[in-house]
Amino acid sequence: MTSVRDLVQPDRVHRSVYLDEDIFDLEMERIFGRAWMYVGHASQIPEPGDFLTTSLGRQPVVLSRHEDGEIFVMFNRCGHRGAVVCNEPNGNARHFRCCYHGWTFHTNGLIKAIPLQAGYPKGTNLDDPSLGMVQVPRVEIYRGFVFASLAVDGPSLATYLGPIVQTIDDICDRSPVGEVEITGGVHRYEFQGNWKTQMENLNDLYHVPHSHESTTSGGRQFQRTGTATGSRLSREDGSPISFWDQTGVWAFDGGHSYCGRMPNANPVSREEHPEYVAALEARLGEERTAQVLNVHWHNALIYPNLCLQSMAQHIRVIRPLTVNRTEVQVYPIKLKGAPEKLNQTVIRYLNVTHAAASLIQTDDLEAFGRVQRGLSTDGSEWVFLGRGFGQEQPLDDAVGYRSEGTHELPLRNQYREWLNFMGEYAN
Ligand code: FES
Ligand SMILES: [Fe+2]
Repeated sequence: MTSVRDLVQPDRVHRSVYLDEDIFDLEMERIFGRAWMYVGHASQIPEPGDFLTTSLGRQPVVLSRHEDGEIFVMFNRCGHRGAVVCNEPNGNARHFRCCYHGWTFHTNGLIKAIPLQAGYPKGTNLDDPSLGMVQVPRVEIYRGFVFASLAVDGPSLATYLGPIVQTIDDICDRSPVGEVEITGGVHRYEFQGNWKTQMENLNDLYHVPHSHESTTSGGRQFQRTGTATGSRLSREDGSPISFWDQTGVWAFDGGHSYCGRMPNANPVSREEHPEYVAALEARLGEERTAQVLNVHWHNALIYPNLCLQSMAQHIRVIRPLTVNRTEVQVYPIKLKGAPEKLNQTVIRYLNVTHAAASLIQTDDLEAFGRVQRGLSTDGSEWVFLGRGFGQEQPLDDAVGYRSEGTHELPLRNQYREWLNFMGEYAN
């Protein structure tokens, strides 16, 4: 392989970043092995003994709430001979017992009991954490969002997130008590494509009027299927193509970015939910309440594996599986203390827009698969990301840039960070 530095130019990337298994392996080591990654939300494991299993990069982990209420993220690996211990997606357990030889671990990963313990030599320290389920090196929690890094050293979570943390605050502040819950179920989909294709797509407004024409040009699909009533969050009245430029995109250090509010967003109003809005104003004041109900961003990307959406508030977790297979999980965000009808509206909306057979997500998945197939041809070695190149404007109030909505600034910004991670050991 040539140096990874040769694969990213200011306005284009080499197609091998989507196709090459060696590069994928390097990404798992250098990006997913070091970045702060979203693991899950504290509300998914509210009680002592609650757990869920997921993976960070390719490494299976367990997110667990110990009996004292503390949250742990540990490798899903038995301290004896290495088997994956926890085989359920989630649940509640008094302890974790390995299926192979029966070693049992506390919900903080330390050994609880092992069969026929006397067979081990005197002096074997069974309290040694390395014989338990080992903790991932770093874990930090922000407003219930659990992040972890597989690297021992690196910037704090606050430094890593920078200004993009505002988007987490905006969503949490929509709750009258300032807390959200990820308890509304999940949509999962897999596609035959590279993980970066999904990350690129989330702040790509250039594709919206084309890929999603049957939705954006007057909401034909929604009307035809009678689902418009379930989508109070957006008006589905169509927008001129020029609007997508006015919407804007913002990019920050660290690969993070967001795109501007959708033209059809229909925020919660005082007329519709007077008590809810009053409760927010009591906590936040009028100005901040108006701001959080009608935020100026739509999809916020927290590089490399998380996206928050403001309109139908949900999170998306991007899980690279192989170089050409990716899983995405979509979780509605419930606003604690908000009217149940509001939370139900979000779930109903996501069923129509983001379920496996939904009216919008399927458009994107078709495109992702076509990208992967098209890039495998010998048509060109390069993928052109030059839209709006050189036209980005520095922000006044934060370190970052803004550009027109259909510009590919967020994509170039992701590759800048990709290179920061990947290029460090370039040879
Ligand atoms: S591998 Fe888990 S008990 Fe042996
Ligand atoms: Fe899309």
